[in-house]
Amino acid sequence: MTTSAQLSIVVPTFNETANIAVLVERLSDSLGPLNWEVIFVDDDSPDGTATEVRRLAREDGRIRCVQRIKRRGLSSACIEGMLASSAPYIAVMDADLQHDETLLPTMYSTLQDEALDIVVGSRYVAGGDASAFTDDRARKSELATRMSRMVVPESLQDPMSGFFMITRQAFESCMRNLSGIGFKILMDLFASAPEPLRFKELPFTFGQRFAGESKLDNQALWDYGMLLLDKLFGRFVPVRFVAFIMVGGIGVAVHMGLLTLFYQGMDYGFVTSQVGATLVAMTVNYVINNVITYRDLQLKGVDWLKGWFSFVLACSIGALANVGVAGYLFSQQTAWLLAGFAGIVVGAVWNYAITQLYTWHAQ
Ligand code: GDD
Ligand code: MN
Repeated sequence: MTTSAQLSIVVPTFNETANIAVLVERLSDSLGPLNWEVIFVDDDSPDGTATEVRRLAREDGRIRCVQRIKRRGLSSACIEGMLASSAPYIAVMDADLQHDETLLPTMYSTLQDEALDIVVGSRYVAGGDASAFTDDRARKSELATRMSRMVVPESLQDPMSGFFMITRQAFESCMRNLSGIGFKILMDLFASAPEPLRFKELPFTFGQRFAGESKLDNQALWDYGMLLLDKLFGRFVPVRFVAFIMVGGIGVAVHMGLLTLFYQGMDYGFVTSQVGATLVAMTVNYVINNVITYRDLQLKGVDWLKGWFSFVLACSIGALANVGVAGYLFSQQTAWLLAGFAGIVVGAVWNYAITQLYTWHAQ
């Protein structure tokens, strides 16, 4: 009987077909006799990354594939990969060979020999290097690092790193508090730990991407803000709700603009104008929420149409609830401004709760 892996390497992938075989070969070379496995977590990449992983897995039992359907997200992929592992040590690294796999044996021995929970591959300690970054990217990374100090230890030089190794015990202590939002899984782990993680940073040179292209876009910036908010205030209010309300604010502006256009500019009747403005505003809200608030569960194709229908239906009922509550409170002598506001709150909470369940099927 062979014993199970001592070290799992979790690799999130999206459109990385051309990097998989090279990465596995390099892992094999640097880890030598160590008992390891690699778990690729692929979000149903259109380029067939999962098929490529399984092709290799049929020849090598150390390769595993977790394929997620209709899901997106680097952090959540890493978390699910770590949950699929039984090994006492778990590493996370990118598929594109920007992370130096020859550091893994040192990370492993450091974790074994010293009283540590996590070892971080760091670009910003002496000997590390991130010159592969463009100036603009380096500036953003620096700003993000500075902001992260609100939720991670000051002395951690590279909380934005996506390359680290953690003990199973430490991971399990954090796993129920993780946000799983966006790109920054390391920051999430540090900010979720009930006891401060004992860590050490080992320098490495952040290389050039081998094949394919980076998935870090402006959305990642928004996700970063959401992760930070969730870590700071998530105990009190779900961060998706905050995003939903912000998008709702955009909807109100669109609504008022269109109402003015239809009623004043185009001479439609008031009710017709209001109905038109409402429908367009709801659709705009739906589109933005689908792309931003629920990007990880984004609806496409026929599902998009079904989603739009359920969203409009839910929000229409929300509007009735809004008017019902406000009307009742007003009839009970509540000040009109307060009654109106209470109606909005009830409507917004209803819209959020129902569409999260029936439009995007979030848990
Ligand atoms: N499953 C899954 N789902 N994987 C994803 C997704 C996703 O939605 N988005 C990206 N990935 C995978 C990529 O396929 C790659 O293997 C890895 O996550 C990193 O993505 P890149 O697109 O290469 O990111 P980057 O190089 O710009 O940023 C990396 O380096 C930064 C600096 O260390 C990431 O590791 C960042 O987290 C890190 O901050
Ligand atoms: Mn990369």
